[in-house]
Amino acid sequence: MPHSLISRVLLIGAVALHSALALAQTSAPTTDKRLPINVSQAEKNQMLYEMREFLHGFHAINIALARGDMQSLAITAKPMGALLERLPSSLKEHLPEEFLQLAIAMNEALQVLARDAVEKGDTRLTHENLAEVITYCSGCHDTYRFNVVASRARK
Ligand code: HEC
Repeated sequence: MPHSLISRVLLIGAVALHSALALAQTSAPTTDKRLPINVSQAEKNQMLYEMREFLHGFHAINIALARGDMQSLAITAKPMGALLERLPSSLKEHLPEEFLQLAIAMNEALQVLARDAVEKGDTRLTHENLAEVITYCSGCHDTYRFNVVASRARK
């Protein structure tokens, strides 16, 4: 085999091995590059409560979708989005603009999910719309973390 061909085969092998390792890698990165949002302990508790409710809602939406029950899907999805309305304004004032935009965009995606489900009754489309909602969950989680500080120290 000519030398250049051997090195190309080795290179392709190395790339394939690298991808396989990346897929098999289970350990998370050891550094946290998410942006901290300073909140009090009570505010963090409230936010995390809302988040756990999202997970319950997500479960209920999946059950409804599996059963083709678009009405109950919409009944769950519609009120989920109003996260910002459920938070006290003292907290909202401290949330970064991009965080608020993500929450607003997620709300819009949830309204589209609810509306299309009832109006179109298309399971595949609804599933796709649901996946769209989840991109906002991940988008925000990939970007931010809540950092507890004493209320007075909060900027
Ligand atoms: C606008 C931002 C934002 C959106 C949108 C968002 N989250 Fe979160 N979520 C957060 C942050 C920030 C945390 C806390 C992360 C940390 O401090 O480590 C969190 C934490 C959580 C937790 C952990 C709760 C606990 O008790 O520890 C769950 C579960 C969760 N989110 C579910 C969801 C789901 C499901 C969605 C989408 C339907 C969603 N979140 C959308 C910002 C968001």
